[in-house]
Amino acid sequence: MELPIDNKQFLALSREQVDVWLVYVDETYDENLVASYRRLLTAQELEQEARFYFPNDRHRFLVTRALVRDVLSRYEAISPQDWRFEQNAYGRPTIANDNVISKLISFNISHSDGLIILSITRDRALGVDTENLTRSAPMQIANSYFSPREIAALHRLPAALLSQRFFELWTLKESYIKARGMGLTIPLDQFSFNLDVDQQIRIEFETAFDDLSSRWWFWQWRPSANHIAALCLELEDGAAATVITRKVIPLLPSETLVSNMLRTSTRRY
Ligand SMILES: CC(C)(COP(=O)(O)OP(=O)(O)OC[C@H]1O[C@@H](n2cnc3c(N)ncnc32)[C@H](O)[C@@H]1OP(=O)(O)O)[C@@H](O)C(=O)NCCC(=O)NCCS
Repeated sequence: MELPIDNKQFLALSREQVDVWLVYVDETYDENLVASYRRLLTAQELEQEARFYFPNDRHRFLVTRALVRDVLSRYEAISPQDWRFEQNAYGRPTIANDNVISKLISFNISHSDGLIILSITRDRALGVDTENLTRSAPMQIANSYFSPREIAALHRLPAALLSQRFFELWTLKESYIKARGMGLTIPLDQFSFNLDVDQQIRIEFETAFDDLSSRWWFWQWRPSANHIAALCLELEDGAAATVITRKVIPLLPSETLVSNMLRTSTRRY
């Protein structure tokens, strides 16, 4: 039975924690579930859904909207259908509801072939990205857009490791771009990830680029056997954050904590 919203136990939204919510899209193909997701969407979102040409893209869009609405309502006494969103000039969705807590929620979304990731924290820049590792890596993108030191590091690798390393770099670069919220106005060759040192993730900026490595914390993991993901979080000096990962089917009491990450790589510097 659905609890009245006043009696619900809300999740804490902390500046020292990032909550990561995973949806495996295969688990959401159910007629009744889909109908209940559609009831959460605004008329404008329903129009957007209908504009996708491929059924899989329509379904992913619908599940993503339901996920964001359902999960946000676990933190704040606002019903899933009452969340309002707006976009910044670069297309990044943010919350438009006019109350104090809503204004403090940072969230970011990524989806790739059967997986949707929603990351949430409080009052910090946050970006997430995921890619499917079974695709063949578009190495010409690395050669054209990655930084010279990333290209050189890629070309030093044995061929068998190249594809995975490309996607590790790609997701990290996207997670940073998404945390900044400015899309591809950030030149991809102005910052580099160095993954050659143990399991550490190190970002380095070109001297002309206005940002500091010490502002950012990265985490990379495998949310499924076929996916790689990266998270970028803005953290002031001396601060630390933990990441809690849950798998969920939106609107079902299905939430489980996930601990079987295949690889983590974390570093504060
Ligand atoms: C839109 C962009 C932010 C990410 O797109 P993407 O990696 O193709 O797609 P993802 O699934 O990871 O992310 C899409 C989500 O990002 C969010 N998003 C959109 N614009 C955003 C922005 N400017 N900043 C942060 N997040 C944004 C949205 O929530 C979107 O999901 P939704 O449409 O369901 O709400 C942008 O960086 C882009 O166009 N990238 C192009 C890809 C590329 O060339 N990457 C090179 C990496 S090395």
